[in-house]
Amino acid sequence: MASHTVHLSLFTVLHHSVIFLLLIQIPPCSSSNDSYSNCANPINCGKIRNMSFPFWGGNRPKECGHPLMQLICKNDTSYITIKDVLYQVLEANPDSHTLKITRQDYWIDLCQPTHVSTTLDSQLYVYESLYKNLTLSYDCALFPTYIPCNGVLGGTSVYTQFGSLSPESCKTSVVVPVPLSFMEINSFIQVYHAIKEGFVVRWIIGVEECDKCEKSGGVCGFDSSSQQTCYCREGPCPNFSPDTQASSDQMFM
Ligand SMILES: *[C@@H]1O[C@H](CO)[C@@H](O)[C@H](O)[C@H]1NC(C)=O
Ligand SMILES: *[C@@H]1O[C@H](CO)[C@@H](O)[C@H](O)[C@H]1NC(C)=O
Ligand SMILES: *[C@@H]1O[C@H](CO)[C@@H](O)[C@H](O)[C@H]1NC(C)=O
Ligand SMILES: *[C@@H]1O[C@H](CO)[C@@H](O)[C@H](O)[C@H]1NC(C)=O
Repeated sequence: MASHTVHLSLFTVLHHSVIFLLLIQIPPCSSSNDSYSNCANPINCGKIRNMSFPFWGGNRPKECGHPLMQLICKNDTSYITIKDVLYQVLEANPDSHTLKITRQDYWIDLCQPTHVSTTLDSQLYVYESLYKNLTLSYDCALFPTYIPCNGVLGGTSVYTQFGSLSPESCKTSVVVPVPLSFMEINSFIQVYHAIKEGFVVRWIIGVEECDKCEKSGGVCGFDSSSQQTCYCREGPCPNFSPDTQASSDQMFM
């Protein structure tokens, strides 16, 4: 009888210690578990499907992508900001790492209060398609061939030409890339279509490292100091060392 009681309480003590150990084990691991599972979520927004690293936004927390690569989803339309310019994402291809983007600001009105030329952040993107520059020039003294900014005659107007130079007589200008196929830019509607068509960029940031990470069973992300990292099931694996636990577990999920 006595030995039975001792046996029971020993069991209880062991049982409690196991629970205690589990309790103190879980908190430090739960955050990396979160990144591991959160960053496996793709972004789906309208016809933009299955977007993951290096993008974040929506159900992908910031640690899942490059700090400057947030995809914003509104009304089933995706947007991204590159160097202070807001673009609408028309198409995205995660396999070829490309985005087709168009300037949101000049979609409706060619004259905007701020004049910011399109430039890519060269650490993050390159032009994928051939393009030509279109320059929109404002407040020109000399040029007679103006285009009405919003398509309506009588309002403010803009002078357009191919290339990235602006006539000297103009006070400000903006350079935007347009597809090579656009030859005529003599009317509002031609300029509108050229800009609306957009252009293709390819993202280049962290692609190779991410392949290594994914091959080792991890999920790619950026840590709080904006360094690329790899989240494994057991926590961060910044050296992208093979996470055999995760890759073998995945086969049974
Ligand atoms: C989504 O992308 C992942 C890789 O990032 C790929 O393994 C998966 O097959 C893709 N799913 C679809 C439906 O394309
Ligand atoms: C949302 O998108 C639909 C279809 O593209 C469009 O008809 C509607 O006006 C949009 N709503 C807003 C608030 O932008
Ligand atoms: C477009 O203009 C930018 C400067 O605004 C220049 O760096 C770039 O080389 C030009 N691209 C082409 C294709 O002319
Ligand atoms: C979370 O991490 C712990 C400790 O590394 C691990 O035992 C557990 O299986 C993980 N949970 C999930 C859901 O991956």
